[in-house]
Amino acid sequence: MKPTQSQIVNVIPAMGGQPLLGSTSIGAMLIDSGRITPEDAERIIRFAKEQSLRFGDAAVAMKLATESDIQLALARQFDYPYLTPGQSNVSDEVIAAWTPFSDRVESLRALRSQLLLRWFTGDPQQKILAIVSPASGDGRTHLAANLAVVFSQMGERTLLVDADLRHPRQHELFGLKNASGLSTVLAERTGSEAIQRIAGFVDLSVLPAGPTPPNPLELLGRPAFGDLMQQLSTEYDVVIIDTPAASFGSDYQLVAQKAKGVVMVARQNRTTMEDCTEVAEECRAAGANVVGGVLNEQ
Ligand SMILES: Nc1ncnc2c1ncn2[C@@H]1O[C@H](COP(=O)(O)OP(=O)(O)O)[C@@H](O)[C@H]1O
Ligand SMILES: [Mg+2]
Repeated sequence: MKPTQSQIVNVIPAMGGQPLLGSTSIGAMLIDSGRITPEDAERIIRFAKEQSLRFGDAAVAMKLATESDIQLALARQFDYPYLTPGQSNVSDEVIAAWTPFSDRVESLRALRSQLLLRWFTGDPQQKILAIVSPASGDGRTHLAANLAVVFSQMGERTLLVDADLRHPRQHELFGLKNASGLSTVLAERTGSEAIQRIAGFVDLSVLPAGPTPPNPLELLGRPAFGDLMQQLSTEYDVVIIDTPAASFGSDYQLVAQKAKGVVMVARQNRTTMEDCTEVAEECRAAGANVVGGVLNEQ
């Protein structure tokens, strides 16, 4: 597969991936998604045995599921929960949700493999990753959203947090209300009910930024932010955090400090090496590991 110009290119040195197949049965997935009841599943299993059919074929023959239910369940079983038109108001910018078999999403999965080897290794201290970059428009939001989707597609309990309290966009990408979110949690006006599940994805949740506060830096500097991150890292396998551009001030450093790991995005023909080096140094000074870099060729 030849990369296209608009591809996100993972420039972390390749170390080889692992097959990442889900193990849940089609029946269990159909039950989880509310397509069939457990009683239906038992009837399907009996019928499948009697007729020597596969579970999916038996379910369709009994008119308890449609071909597209089975296709979607099969896709989920092989690691690819994805959306079908009319099913969701997730934006088409979230390419991993709509076109999981495209080359561009393939490179996101390559990045996921690298991150599994280098950061999300099962260490409880390495569950959070902030996406940082020097300037607005580099592609942090795009990468954070799509990376969260590909992690959730392999069955990791995944949370995407929009910590860009200045120009938040994740709620738009996922078609969510932004009346409550990180800002209201940090201001102690709401609790973790501000976290929203994304329909169609078993393991994906989003904490939107919430209403834009007058004092983003002060909110992110509160101990409540560290406490929240601590709590979330016990509840999720993977927490991806979108951040404001470094050019907007030191918000991203506060996020990097809590995340302990960052991925740097650089936009082709725009981001300078000098800016990247400076942001990476600030992240390290905040106590974070620069886990890798992504060159956004868009
Ligand atoms: N790899 C990409 N492929 C397609 N569109 C992209 C890509 N990277 C960024 N964009 C688009 O560029 C614009 C700015 O990206 P965004 O992620 O919002 O930047 P940032 O969050 O760094 O300010 C958005 O419209 C986004 O959809
Ligand atoms: Mg953004």
